[in-house]
Amino acid sequence: MNFFKDIAWVDAGPIEAIPAPGARQLRTSEGNIALVKTSSGDFHALQDACPHRGGPLSQGMVYGERLQCPMHGLNIDLHSGEAVAPDQGCTRTYPVRVEKGRVFVGLSAIAECGCACAAAA
Ligand code: FES
Repeated sequence: MNFFKDIAWVDAGPIEAIPAPGARQLRTSEGNIALVKTSSGDFHALQDACPHRGGPLSQGMVYGERLQCPMHGLNIDLHSGEAVAPDQGCTRTYPVRVEKGRVFVGLSAIAECGCACAAAA
C-alpha cells in the first residue's frame, strides 16, 4: 500500500518564506492549517485550532519540537499533534514534504493521533 497515493499536495510556498523557528497560516479547502518551521529547519503541519478552545496555533510560539498556543499556553508536540502533559487533547497533523526549495502539505490523508480527537471528527 502506498500511503502517499491519494494525497493532494498543496504548494505552501518557498521554504525561506517562514522564519525558523516560526509558523504561518495556510488556508486550504480542508480548513486552516498551521505550517510550522522549527529552528532546525524541519516543517510540520497541524490543524490551526488548539484543542483547548480553538486558538490559532499558527500564531503560537515554536520552541524545539513544540508549539505553544498563544491563547492560554497549551503546548503541542509537533510530531504527534498531542498536548504535552499535564495538558490534554490533540490536533490533527498533516504530511509535509520539501521539494526543490518549496514546502508541500498533504491534504485528504490526515494522520490520526490516536487520541479522542480522532473519534470526535
Ligand atoms: S485556546 Fe489554546 S490554550 Fe486555550
